Amino acid sequence: MIKISPSILSADLFEIEKKVKALDKAGVEYIHIDVMDGHFVKNLTFGSNMVKSLRRITSKVLDVHLMIEPVKLYIKEFVDAGSDIITFHPEADKNSFEIIQLIHDYNIKAGIAIHPDLKISDIFSFLPKVQQVIVMTVLPGFGGQKFMENQVYKIKELSDLRDKHDFNYEISVDGGITDLTAVECKKNGVDILAVGSHLLNKKEELYPELIKNLR
Ligand code: DX5
Ligand code: ZN
Repeated sequence: MIKISPSILSADLFEIEKKVKALDKAGVEYIHIDVMDGHFVKNLTFGSNMVKSLRRITSKVLDVHLMIEPVKLYIKEFVDAGSDIITFHPEADKNSFEIIQLIHDYNIKAGIAIHPDLKISDIFSFLPKVQQVIVMTVLPGFGGQKFMENQVYKIKELSDLRDKHDFNYEISVDGGITDLTAVECKKNGVDILAVGSHLLNKKEELYPELIKNLR
């Protein structure tokens, strides 16, 4: 069954606890945490303290998406805060293989995110090593952007490569995901839907219905 990873980026900070508890109760599998440093992307969100606080209120998978540069020196603090998966942008740090190894040394899952400007061939060498690949269907940095249809082919390509080479990553899609845009992502083999404004800008009472429609 397809997994849902709600991104808390669009939520009012003071409503995050209430919304995450409602999403947890509505049966999502992950919580997606978008960490932005105002340098790798032109937006500034939160640090490992957000992961630490979320770890106290949910046992769902904490799916940390690092949009920061450099990356390596922050890995330990995100592990210590309680991350379950740490996904980063390989173009943000020349030590990408070391970072993946470092994440594995802490016994958690490593992921890479594919910027819309990058092709699968640009990140192929990481595929044998990671447990998650996030296909970005918006330019990283902000919630509420329009879904980029021309990125969907990467989901299919990643799915075919996984079968061909017996890789063991899950494929996530992130950006502009709604029940409508999720359809072709699922048709192309996506495993996880990272969903921000479509869920977090809505009333908690609607979550069960919205999640059912996404699946
Ligand atoms: C964008 C983030 C996404 C974003 C998704 O840089 O990585 O996770 O929060 O938000 P929506 O679903 O509103 O595009
Ligand atoms: Zn994200």
